[in-house]
Amino acid sequence: MNVFVTGGTGYIGSHTCVELLEAGHSVVVADNLVNSSAESLRRVERITGRAVEFIECDLRESAAVDAVFASHRFDCVLHFAGLKAVGESVAKPLLYFENNLNSTINLCRAMAEHGVKKIIFSSSATVYSPDNVMPVNEESRTGGCTNPYGWTKFMCEQILRAEAEARGDWSVILLRYFNPVGAHPSGLIGEDPRGIPNNLMPFISQTAAGRRDHLNIFGNDYDTPDGTGIRDYIHVVDLARGHVAAMNYMEKVTGTEVFNLGTGAPCSVLEMVRAFEKATGVKIPFRIAPRRPGDVARVYADPSKSLRLLGWKSELSLEDMCRDTWNWQSKNPDGYGGDL
Ligand code: NAD
Ligand code: UFG
Repeated sequence: MNVFVTGGTGYIGSHTCVELLEAGHSVVVADNLVNSSAESLRRVERITGRAVEFIECDLRESAAVDAVFASHRFDCVLHFAGLKAVGESVAKPLLYFENNLNSTINLCRAMAEHGVKKIIFSSSATVYSPDNVMPVNEESRTGGCTNPYGWTKFMCEQILRAEAEARGDWSVILLRYFNPVGAHPSGLIGEDPRGIPNNLMPFISQTAAGRRDHLNIFGNDYDTPDGTGIRDYIHVVDLARGHVAAMNYMEKVTGTEVFNLGTGAPCSVLEMVRAFEKATGVKIPFRIAPRRPGDVARVYADPSKSLRLLGWKSELSLEDMCRDTWNWQSKNPDGYGGDL
């Protein structure tokens, strides 16, 4: 298939490009590079030996999106583009609503105009209400989001559902990611956060590299076995393969379908620190800090629907996640800013 990948220079998008190319698909990427570097695609080309067309484009500009569709023939869209920093979304809500909603609306409009009927959207476990019993499945309650970023994911899901319902012949897949971590085993592509990382895994790996003095563990008084927060960490290569499985599934169906992409295996912050130390042999100095506002004690997936309908499940272990994160971090101490 000829696949249009928005946000394809970013962390998850670049790993998905690798899996798409290796599965024999062709890829055209559009990104405005607000949180990424086009160097990632040169690395994707190195890994796969295949060319990727890159178009620098801001999806908020509807004429620019239309022009991309007018000059290509796409079978399917994978929509990764979006802003994703929870804290920034609290400080700048309009930026988040404007960017994430308008991008999705412009994309839908161009799809309709040019007869493209299949789209896979990067949603998040954050759309589940915090008061659900764990693990969450696709029928669990959504809404009650604790920040504007989460609401943009919730609203984009509604926009895409409504459009699929109205058109009748569209196929929309909403993939709810849990906590993507890790990197391609080549060490050529990985997560390259700007500034001080918000998320656990990049903070651990930068601490291991000596760029951070120590890790702050946000709370050890949660109602969990070791008191630290529990999440469902999933290797980004497994996550990327989930998109290829979803594309295959989309061939057969119309309407909207939702899937969790997680491992179903809960892991605490302390367990992750120990797993990283074991996999890499590098000690992670840490301190216990106050809870981070908005955090919940535990979030993890029931991924059984993805296995049942997509034939997909995560294959890679916590050890793989830690080893591959460290391989990327140690080979690229400055992310894509440094040469490999
Ligand atoms: P990322 O920031 O690495 O990638 C997103 C890409 O979108 C970036 O390359 C950015 O430059 C681009 N972008 C943003 N606004 C754009 C616009 N208006 N026009 C064109 N390009 C634009 O993030 P990621 O971790 O790869 O996440 C990909 C998607 O998955 C996002 O939609 C994110 O919200 C979602 N998601 C991520 C996580 C996670 O923990 N990483 C969890 C759940 C969902
Ligand atoms: N944590 C620390 N120290 C840190 C960073 C994180 O102790 O320096 C802890 C958090 O308190 C939490 C766990 O590590 O218990 C995971 O935190 P992350 O920030 O890595 O991930 P979250 O689950 O909070 O959030 C992530 C994404 C959101 C997304 C959500 C659900 O950042 O965008 O997963 O998909 F919405």
